[in-house]
Amino acid sequence: MPTSEQSPGTDQQRAVGAESSVLPPTHPLVTGRTSGSILVRAYRGERTATRPIWMMRQAGRSLPEYRAARGDTAMLDACLTPELAAEITCQPVRRHRVDAGIFFSDIVIPVRLAGVGVDIVPGVGPVIDHPIRSAAAVAALPELDPQALAPITEAVARSVELLGDTPLIGFAGAPFTVASYLVEGRPSRDHAITKALMHEHPDVWDALLAWVARTTGAFLRAQGLAGASALQLFDSWAGTLSVEDYLAHVQPHSAAVLAQVADLGMPRIHFGTRTRHLLVAMRDAGADVMGVDAQTPLDEAVALLGGRTPVQGNIDPALLDGPWAELDAHIRDVLRRGATATGHVVNLGHGVPPTTDPDVLTRIVELVHSVPDLLPDLPPDLPPGSLPHPDGAP
Ligand code: CP3
Repeated sequence: MPTSEQSPGTDQQRAVGAESSVLPPTHPLVTGRTSGSILVRAYRGERTATRPIWMMRQAGRSLPEYRAARGDTAMLDACLTPELAAEITCQPVRRHRVDAGIFFSDIVIPVRLAGVGVDIVPGVGPVIDHPIRSAAAVAALPELDPQALAPITEAVARSVELLGDTPLIGFAGAPFTVASYLVEGRPSRDHAITKALMHEHPDVWDALLAWVARTTGAFLRAQGLAGASALQLFDSWAGTLSVEDYLAHVQPHSAAVLAQVADLGMPRIHFGTRTRHLLVAMRDAGADVMGVDAQTPLDEAVALLGGRTPVQGNIDPALLDGPWAELDAHIRDVLRRGATATGHVVNLGHGVPPTTDPDVLTRIVELVHSVPDLLPDLPPDLPPGSLPHPDGAP
Protein backbone atom coordinates (compact mmCIF):
# COMPACT_ATOMS: atom_id res chain seq x y z
CA MET A 1 0.00 0.00 0.00
CA PRO A 2 1.15 3.51 -0.76
CA THR A 3 1.85 4.68 2.75
CA SER A 4 5.27 5.17 4.25
CA GLU A 5 7.08 2.63 6.36
CA GLN A 6 6.66 4.89 9.40
CA SER A 7 2.90 4.60 9.22
CA PRO A 8 1.59 2.10 11.80
CA GLY A 9 -0.51 -0.82 10.61
CA THR A 10 0.44 -3.75 8.46
CA ASP A 11 -0.47 -4.42 4.85
CA GLN A 12 -2.79 -7.06 6.13
CA GLN A 13 -4.65 -4.49 8.23
CA ARG A 14 -5.09 -2.36 5.13
CA ALA A 15 -6.18 -5.23 2.91
CA VAL A 16 -9.37 -4.85 0.93
CA GLY A 17 -12.50 -5.49 2.91
CA ALA A 18 -13.03 -8.74 1.03
CA GLU A 19 -10.07 -10.15 2.93
CA SER A 20 -11.14 -8.81 6.28
CA SER A 21 -12.79 -11.28 8.58
CA VAL A 22 -14.20 -8.44 10.65
CA LEU A 23 -16.66 -6.96 8.18
CA PRO A 24 -20.00 -8.73 7.78
CA PRO A 25 -20.49 -10.62 4.47
CA THR A 26 -23.14 -8.08 3.39
CA HIS A 27 -20.71 -5.15 3.71
CA PRO A 28 -20.35 -3.31 0.34
CA LEU A 29 -16.56 -3.69 0.42
CA VAL A 30 -17.01 -7.45 0.84
CA THR A 31 -19.80 -7.94 -1.71
CA GLY A 32 -17.80 -5.85 -4.20
CA ARG A 33 -20.43 -3.17 -4.53
CA THR A 34 -18.01 -0.34 -3.67
CA SER A 35 -14.57 -1.98 -3.65
CA GLY A 36 -14.05 -1.26 -7.37
CA SER A 37 -15.39 2.31 -7.20
CA ILE A 38 -13.07 5.09 -8.34
CA LEU A 39 -13.23 6.54 -4.82
CA VAL A 40 -12.01 3.43 -3.04
CA ARG A 41 -9.42 2.73 -5.74
CA ALA A 42 -7.98 6.27 -5.52
CA TYR A 43 -7.89 6.03 -1.70
CA ARG A 44 -5.94 2.80 -2.09
CA GLY A 45 -3.34 4.60 -4.18
CA GLU A 46 -4.49 3.83 -7.72
CA ARG A 47 -4.65 6.41 -10.48
CA THR A 48 -8.14 6.38 -11.96
CA ALA A 49 -9.09 7.55 -15.48
CA THR A 50 -11.64 9.91 -13.94
CA ARG A 51 -10.73 11.61 -10.68
CA PRO A 52 -13.32 10.94 -7.93
CA ILE A 53 -14.80 13.97 -6.15
CA TRP A 54 -16.88 14.63 -3.04
CA MET A 55 -17.12 17.79 -0.98
CA MET A 56 -16.89 18.28 2.76
CA ARG A 57 -20.23 19.64 4.01
CA GLN A 58 -21.84 18.70 0.69
CA ALA A 59 -24.98 17.88 2.69
CA GLY A 60 -26.44 20.88 4.42
CA ARG A 61 -27.64 24.40 4.14
CA SER A 62 -26.45 25.05 0.57
CA LEU A 63 -29.26 22.70 -0.60
CA PRO A 64 -32.93 23.78 -0.65
CA GLU A 65 -33.97 20.11 -0.38
CA TYR A 66 -31.95 19.91 2.85
CA ARG A 67 -33.72 22.91 4.34
CA ALA A 68 -37.06 21.38 3.30
CA ALA A 69 -36.27 17.95 4.77
CA ARG A 70 -34.95 19.41 8.05
CA GLY A 71 -37.89 21.79 8.55
CA ASP A 72 -37.97 22.65 12.23
CA THR A 73 -36.10 19.56 13.38
CA ALA A 74 -33.11 20.49 15.55
CA MET A 75 -29.74 19.60 13.98
CA LEU A 76 -28.77 16.86 16.45
CA ASP A 77 -32.30 15.40 16.43
CA ALA A 78 -32.09 15.21 12.62
CA CYS A 79 -28.80 13.30 12.94
CA LEU A 80 -30.45 10.82 15.31
CA THR A 81 -33.53 10.19 13.11
CA PRO A 82 -32.29 7.41 10.79
CA GLU A 83 -34.73 7.96 7.86
CA LEU A 84 -34.01 11.69 7.83
CA ALA A 85 -30.23 11.34 8.23
CA ALA A 86 -30.14 8.80 5.38
CA GLU A 87 -32.24 11.02 3.10
CA ILE A 88 -30.02 14.07 3.78
CA THR A 89 -26.88 11.95 3.21
CA CYS A 90 -28.12 10.99 -0.27
CA GLN A 91 -29.35 14.42 -1.41
CA PRO A 92 -25.99 15.78 -2.67
CA VAL A 93 -25.19 12.48 -4.39
CA ARG A 94 -28.44 12.65 -6.37
CA ARG A 95 -28.08 16.32 -7.19
CA HIS A 96 -24.35 16.72 -7.90
CA ARG A 97 -23.40 13.14 -8.88
CA VAL A 98 -20.48 13.19 -6.48
CA ASP A 99 -18.57 9.92 -6.07
CA ALA A 100 -19.33 9.45 -2.37
CA GLY A 101 -21.88 10.26 0.26
CA ILE A 102 -20.61 11.62 3.58
CA PHE A 103 -22.70 10.39 6.47
CA PHE A 104 -24.96 13.16 7.77
CA SER A 105 -24.04 13.51 11.41
CA ASP A 106 -21.79 15.70 13.53
CA ILE A 107 -18.58 15.40 15.49
CA VAL A 108 -20.46 16.02 18.77
CA ILE A 109 -23.00 13.19 18.22
CA PRO A 110 -20.99 10.54 20.15
CA VAL A 111 -20.54 13.04 23.00
CA ARG A 112 -24.32 13.58 23.09
CA LEU A 113 -24.95 9.80 22.90
CA ALA A 114 -22.65 9.28 25.89
CA GLY A 115 -24.91 11.63 27.85
CA VAL A 116 -23.00 14.93 27.87
CA GLY A 117 -25.19 18.04 27.54
CA VAL A 118 -24.38 19.48 24.11
CA ASP A 119 -26.39 21.20 21.43
CA ILE A 120 -25.71 22.82 18.08
CA VAL A 121 -26.84 26.42 18.15
CA PRO A 122 -27.71 27.65 14.64
CA GLY A 123 -25.11 30.08 13.35
CA VAL A 124 -22.82 29.37 16.33
CA GLY A 125 -21.94 25.66 16.39
CA PRO A 126 -21.56 23.18 19.24
CA VAL A 127 -22.29 24.56 22.74
CA ILE A 128 -21.62 22.50 25.90
CA ASP A 129 -23.86 22.90 29.01
CA HIS A 130 -20.99 22.46 31.48
CA PRO A 131 -17.50 22.92 29.99
CA ILE A 132 -15.02 20.22 31.06
CA ARG A 133 -12.02 21.91 32.71
CA SER A 134 -11.07 19.92 35.83
CA ALA A 135 -9.91 16.46 36.84
CA ALA A 136 -13.29 15.94 38.56
CA ALA A 137 -15.22 16.92 35.42
CA VAL A 138 -13.15 14.53 33.31
CA ALA A 139 -13.57 11.70 35.83
CA ALA A 140 -17.34 12.25 35.76
CA LEU A 141 -17.61 11.88 31.96
CA PRO A 142 -20.02 9.01 31.22
CA GLU A 143 -18.87 5.99 29.21
CA LEU A 144 -20.71 5.55 25.92
CA ASP A 145 -23.11 2.59 26.04
CA PRO A 146 -22.65 0.74 22.72
CA GLN A 147 -26.46 0.32 22.57
CA ALA A 148 -26.76 4.10 22.25
CA LEU A 149 -25.16 3.85 18.80
CA ALA A 150 -28.24 2.05 17.38
CA PRO A 151 -29.57 5.14 15.52
CA ILE A 152 -26.14 5.57 13.89
CA THR A 153 -25.96 1.96 12.79
CA GLU A 154 -29.47 2.17 11.39
CA ALA A 155 -28.90 5.49 9.59
CA VAL A 156 -25.67 4.17 8.01
CA ALA A 157 -27.38 0.94 6.88
CA ARG A 158 -30.25 2.93 5.34
CA SER A 159 -27.83 5.35 3.63
CA VAL A 160 -25.79 2.49 2.18
CA GLU A 161 -28.95 0.84 0.88
CA LEU A 162 -30.07 4.06 -0.83
CA LEU A 163 -26.59 4.81 -2.22
CA GLY A 164 -26.24 1.50 -4.08
CA ASP A 165 -22.83 1.40 -5.76
CA THR A 166 -21.79 4.83 -4.45
CA PRO A 167 -19.59 4.47 -1.38
CA LEU A 168 -20.49 6.06 1.95
CA ILE A 169 -17.76 7.81 3.94
CA GLY A 170 -18.11 7.63 7.70
CA PHE A 171 -16.42 10.20 9.94
CA ALA A 172 -15.64 11.35 13.43
CA GLY A 173 -14.02 14.34 15.07
CA ALA A 174 -10.47 13.83 16.28
CA PRO A 175 -9.76 14.06 20.01
CA PHE A 176 -8.18 17.55 19.90
CA THR A 177 -11.00 19.18 17.92
CA VAL A 178 -13.76 17.53 19.97
CA ALA A 179 -11.94 18.29 23.24
CA SER A 180 -11.56 21.93 22.23
CA TYR A 181 -15.37 22.21 22.15
CA LEU A 182 -15.71 20.35 25.48
CA VAL A 183 -13.16 22.60 27.20
CA GLU A 184 -14.05 25.98 25.66
CA GLY A 185 -17.79 25.22 25.85
CA ARG A 186 -18.35 26.81 22.43
CA PRO A 187 -16.45 27.53 19.20
CA SER A 188 -13.23 29.42 19.86
CA ARG A 189 -10.76 31.12 17.60
CA ASP A 190 -7.56 30.67 19.63
CA HIS A 191 -8.42 27.63 21.81
CA ALA A 192 -6.66 29.43 24.71
CA ILE A 193 -8.40 27.58 27.58
CA THR A 194 -7.83 24.25 25.79
CA LYS A 195 -4.12 24.91 25.34
CA ALA A 196 -3.79 26.11 28.96
CA LEU A 197 -5.28 22.81 30.18
CA MET A 198 -2.94 20.87 27.87
CA HIS A 199 0.16 22.59 29.27
CA GLU A 200 -0.80 23.15 32.90
CA HIS A 201 -2.55 19.85 33.64
CA PRO A 202 -1.19 17.29 31.18
CA ASP A 203 -2.63 14.39 33.21
CA VAL A 204 -6.15 15.81 33.09
CA TRP A 205 -5.62 16.54 29.39
CA ASP A 206 -4.55 12.98 28.64
CA ALA A 207 -7.51 11.56 30.53
CA LEU A 208 -9.89 13.85 28.62
CA LEU A 209 -8.44 12.99 25.22
CA ALA A 210 -8.42 9.28 26.07
CA TRP A 211 -12.17 9.54 26.83
CA VAL A 212 -12.83 11.36 23.56
CA ALA A 213 -10.73 8.81 21.65
CA ARG A 214 -12.74 5.88 23.10
CA THR A 215 -16.08 7.58 22.53
CA THR A 216 -15.41 8.90 19.06
CA GLY A 217 -13.59 5.68 18.06
CA ALA A 218 -16.69 3.63 18.93
CA PHE A 219 -18.82 5.99 16.77
CA LEU A 220 -16.39 5.63 13.85
CA ARG A 221 -16.18 1.85 14.17
CA ALA A 222 -19.97 1.52 14.24
CA GLN A 223 -20.15 3.37 10.91
CA GLY A 224 -17.48 1.15 9.34
CA LEU A 225 -19.19 -2.05 10.46
CA ALA A 226 -22.63 -0.81 9.37
CA GLY A 227 -21.49 -0.26 5.77
CA ALA A 228 -19.22 2.78 5.30
CA SER A 229 -16.45 2.14 2.73
CA ALA A 230 -13.95 4.70 4.06
CA LEU A 231 -13.57 6.63 7.32
CA GLN A 232 -12.42 10.22 7.75
CA LEU A 233 -11.06 11.70 10.97
CA PHE A 234 -11.60 15.48 11.14
CA ASP A 235 -9.04 17.36 13.24
CA SER A 236 -10.29 20.70 11.99
CA TRP A 237 -8.47 22.83 14.57
CA ALA A 238 -5.20 20.85 14.96
CA GLY A 239 -3.49 23.35 12.66
CA THR A 240 -3.37 25.82 15.57
CA LEU A 241 -0.85 23.51 17.32
CA SER A 242 2.93 23.43 16.94
CA VAL A 243 4.47 20.17 15.74
CA GLU A 244 5.92 19.64 19.25
CA ASP A 245 2.55 20.05 20.99
CA TYR A 246 0.84 17.90 18.38
CA LEU A 247 3.32 15.06 18.80
CA ALA A 248 3.41 15.21 22.60
CA HIS A 249 -0.24 15.87 23.48
CA VAL A 250 -2.45 14.95 20.52
CA GLN A 251 -0.99 12.43 18.06
CA PRO A 252 -1.14 9.43 20.46
CA HIS A 253 -4.86 10.00 21.00
CA SER A 254 -5.63 10.40 17.28
CA ALA A 255 -3.56 7.25 16.69
CA ALA A 256 -5.75 5.47 19.25
CA VAL A 257 -8.87 6.38 17.25
CA LEU A 258 -7.37 5.25 13.94
CA ALA A 259 -6.14 2.03 15.58
CA GLN A 260 -9.71 1.27 16.71
CA VAL A 261 -10.72 0.88 13.05
CA ALA A 262 -7.46 -0.50 11.59
CA ASP A 263 -8.75 -4.08 11.45
CA LEU A 264 -11.72 -3.04 9.29
CA GLY A 265 -9.27 -2.78 6.37
CA MET A 266 -10.90 0.32 4.88
CA PRO A 267 -9.14 3.56 3.90
CA ARG A 268 -8.66 6.00 6.76
CA ILE A 269 -8.42 9.67 5.80
CA HIS A 270 -7.09 12.31 8.20
CA PHE A 271 -7.83 16.01 7.67
CA GLY A 272 -7.37 19.35 9.36
CA THR A 273 -7.11 22.97 8.24
CA ARG A 274 -3.83 24.93 8.19
CA THR A 275 -1.97 21.68 8.79
CA ARG A 276 0.90 21.87 6.28
CA HIS A 277 3.39 21.60 9.18
CA LEU A 278 1.49 18.61 10.61
CA LEU A 279 0.86 16.55 7.46
CA VAL A 280 3.56 13.97 8.19
CA ALA A 281 2.70 13.72 11.90
CA MET A 282 -1.01 13.31 11.10
CA ARG A 283 -0.24 10.64 8.49
CA ASP A 284 1.97 8.86 10.97
CA ALA A 285 -0.92 8.74 13.44
CA GLY A 286 -2.07 5.85 11.24
CA ALA A 287 -3.83 7.44 8.25
CA ASP A 288 -3.81 5.88 4.78
CA VAL A 289 -4.79 9.11 3.01
CA MET A 290 -4.13 12.75 3.90
CA GLY A 291 -6.71 15.48 3.41
CA VAL A 292 -4.99 18.69 2.35
CA ASP A 293 -6.20 22.21 3.18
CA ALA A 294 -6.59 25.03 0.66
CA GLN A 295 -3.36 26.70 1.80
CA THR A 296 -1.05 23.83 0.78
CA PRO A 297 -0.51 23.11 -2.94
CA LEU A 298 -1.18 19.40 -3.50
CA ASP A 299 2.19 18.71 -5.17
CA GLU A 300 3.95 20.20 -2.13
CA ALA A 301 1.82 18.07 0.18
CA VAL A 302 2.65 14.96 -1.88
CA ALA A 303 6.38 15.77 -1.69
CA LEU A 304 6.27 16.51 2.06
CA LEU A 305 4.59 13.12 2.56
CA GLY A 306 7.34 11.35 0.63
CA GLY A 307 5.41 10.73 -2.59
CA ARG A 308 3.50 7.58 -1.63
CA THR A 309 0.54 8.76 0.42
CA PRO A 310 -2.70 9.30 -1.54
CA VAL A 311 -4.14 12.78 -1.03
CA GLN A 312 -7.56 14.40 -0.91
CA GLY A 313 -8.29 18.04 -1.75
CA ASN A 314 -8.07 20.97 -2.17
CA ILE A 315 -10.27 23.39 -4.12
CA ASP A 316 -10.33 26.71 -2.27
CA PRO A 317 -13.88 27.30 -0.91
CA ALA A 318 -13.17 31.05 -1.02
CA LEU A 319 -13.32 30.89 -4.83
CA LEU A 320 -16.78 29.26 -5.01
CA ASP A 321 -18.61 32.58 -5.12
CA GLY A 322 -16.22 34.23 -7.61
CA PRO A 323 -16.11 34.27 -11.43
CA TRP A 324 -16.34 30.80 -13.03
CA ALA A 325 -13.28 31.38 -15.23
CA GLU A 326 -11.10 31.85 -12.15
CA LEU A 327 -12.59 28.79 -10.43
CA ASP A 328 -12.18 26.70 -13.62
CA ALA A 329 -8.47 27.63 -13.85
CA HIS A 330 -7.99 26.91 -10.14
CA ILE A 331 -9.64 23.46 -10.40
CA ARG A 332 -7.45 22.53 -13.38
CA ASP A 333 -4.42 23.59 -11.33
CA VAL A 334 -5.60 21.38 -8.43
CA LEU A 335 -5.97 18.46 -10.86
CA ARG A 336 -2.51 19.07 -12.33
CA ARG A 337 -0.85 19.20 -8.92
CA GLY A 338 -2.92 16.25 -7.67
CA ALA A 339 -1.63 14.20 -10.61
CA THR A 340 1.71 13.94 -8.74
CA ALA A 341 0.04 11.74 -6.09
CA THR A 342 -0.30 7.96 -6.20
CA GLY A 343 -4.03 8.45 -5.70
CA HIS A 344 -6.02 11.70 -5.71
CA VAL A 345 -9.58 12.25 -4.51
CA VAL A 346 -10.79 15.75 -5.33
CA ASN A 347 -12.43 17.73 -2.53
CA LEU A 348 -12.52 21.25 -1.17
CA GLY A 349 -9.80 22.52 1.16
CA HIS A 350 -12.55 22.88 3.83
CA GLY A 351 -16.34 22.65 3.94
CA VAL A 352 -18.91 24.09 1.52
CA PRO A 353 -20.03 27.48 2.90
CA PRO A 354 -23.82 27.52 3.54
CA THR A 355 -24.28 30.44 1.09
CA THR A 356 -22.77 28.59 -1.91
CA ASP A 357 -24.91 28.35 -5.07
CA PRO A 358 -25.52 24.59 -5.45
CA ASP A 359 -25.34 24.87 -9.25
CA VAL A 360 -21.68 25.87 -8.92
CA LEU A 361 -21.04 22.63 -6.99
CA THR A 362 -22.72 20.56 -9.72
CA ARG A 363 -20.61 22.33 -12.34
CA ILE A 364 -17.43 21.58 -10.40
CA VAL A 365 -18.30 17.87 -10.35
CA GLU A 366 -18.97 17.93 -14.11
CA LEU A 367 -15.65 19.67 -14.78
CA VAL A 368 -13.63 17.24 -12.63
CA HIS A 369 -15.30 14.27 -14.31
CA SER A 370 -14.61 15.71 -17.78
CA VAL A 371 -10.86 16.11 -17.31
CA PRO A 372 -8.96 12.89 -18.06
CA ASP A 373 -6.23 11.90 -15.63
CA LEU A 374 -3.04 13.78 -16.39
CA LEU A 375 0.47 12.51 -16.43
CA PRO A 376 2.57 14.25 -13.84
CA ASP A 377 4.49 17.21 -15.19
CA LEU A 378 5.81 18.13 -11.77
CA PRO A 379 8.58 16.19 -9.97
CA PRO A 380 6.67 13.36 -8.25
CA ASP A 381 9.08 12.04 -5.70
CA LEU A 382 10.82 14.97 -4.05
CA PRO A 383 12.29 13.78 -0.77
CA PRO A 384 10.68 15.33 2.30
CA GLY A 385 12.55 18.46 3.34
CA SER A 386 13.51 19.45 -0.20
CA LEU A 387 10.88 22.18 -0.14
CA PRO A 388 10.98 25.31 2.04
CA HIS A 389 9.70 24.67 5.54
CA PRO A 390 6.06 25.60 6.15
CA ASP A 391 5.22 28.81 7.96
CA GLY A 392 6.13 28.66 11.60
CA ALA A 393 7.46 25.11 11.49
CA PRO A 394 10.94 24.60 12.91
O1 CP3 B 1 -21.75 16.96 4.17
C1 CP3 B 1 -21.30 16.89 5.33
O2 CP3 B 1 -20.09 17.05 5.53
C2 CP3 B 1 -22.31 16.59 6.42
C3 CP3 B 1 -21.87 16.02 7.67
C4 CP3 B 1 -21.13 16.91 8.66
C5 CP3 B 1 -21.70 17.90 9.53
N1 CP3 B 1 -20.75 18.28 10.42
C6 CP3 B 1 -23.07 18.38 9.48
C7 CP3 B 1 -23.37 19.73 10.04
C8 CP3 B 1 -19.79 16.79 9.02
C9 CP3 B 1 -18.72 15.92 8.34
C10 CP3 B 1 -19.58 17.65 10.13
C11 CP3 B 1 -18.30 17.72 10.83
C12 CP3 B 1 -18.05 18.81 11.76
N2 CP3 B 1 -18.91 19.38 12.67
C13 CP3 B 1 -16.77 19.37 11.94
C14 CP3 B 1 -15.54 18.96 11.19
C15 CP3 B 1 -15.52 19.49 9.82
C16 CP3 B 1 -15.25 20.97 9.73
O3 CP3 B 1 -16.13 21.69 9.23
O4 CP3 B 1 -14.15 21.38 10.10
C17 CP3 B 1 -16.88 20.35 12.93
C18 CP3 B 1 -15.77 21.25 13.45
C19 CP3 B 1 -18.23 20.34 13.40
C20 CP3 B 1 -18.85 21.17 14.48
C21 CP3 B 1 -19.93 21.99 13.91
N3 CP3 B 1 -21.19 21.51 13.66
C22 CP3 B 1 -19.86 23.35 13.45
C23 CP3 B 1 -18.66 24.23 13.54
C24 CP3 B 1 -21.13 23.65 12.90
C25 CP3 B 1 -21.54 24.92 12.17
C26 CP3 B 1 -22.43 25.82 12.97
C27 CP3 B 1 -23.19 26.76 12.06
O5 CP3 B 1 -24.41 26.81 12.19
O6 CP3 B 1 -22.57 27.42 11.20
C28 CP3 B 1 -21.93 22.50 13.05
C29 CP3 B 1 -23.31 22.34 12.59
C30 CP3 B 1 -23.50 21.49 11.41
N4 CP3 B 1 -22.94 20.25 11.23
C31 CP3 B 1 -24.34 21.78 10.31
C32 CP3 B 1 -24.28 20.67 9.46
C33 CP3 B 1 -25.02 20.46 8.17
C34 CP3 B 1 -25.17 23.04 10.15
C35 CP3 B 1 -26.41 22.90 10.98
C36 CP3 B 1 -27.64 23.43 10.30
O7 CP3 B 1 -27.93 23.07 9.15
O8 CP3 B 1 -28.35 24.17 10.98
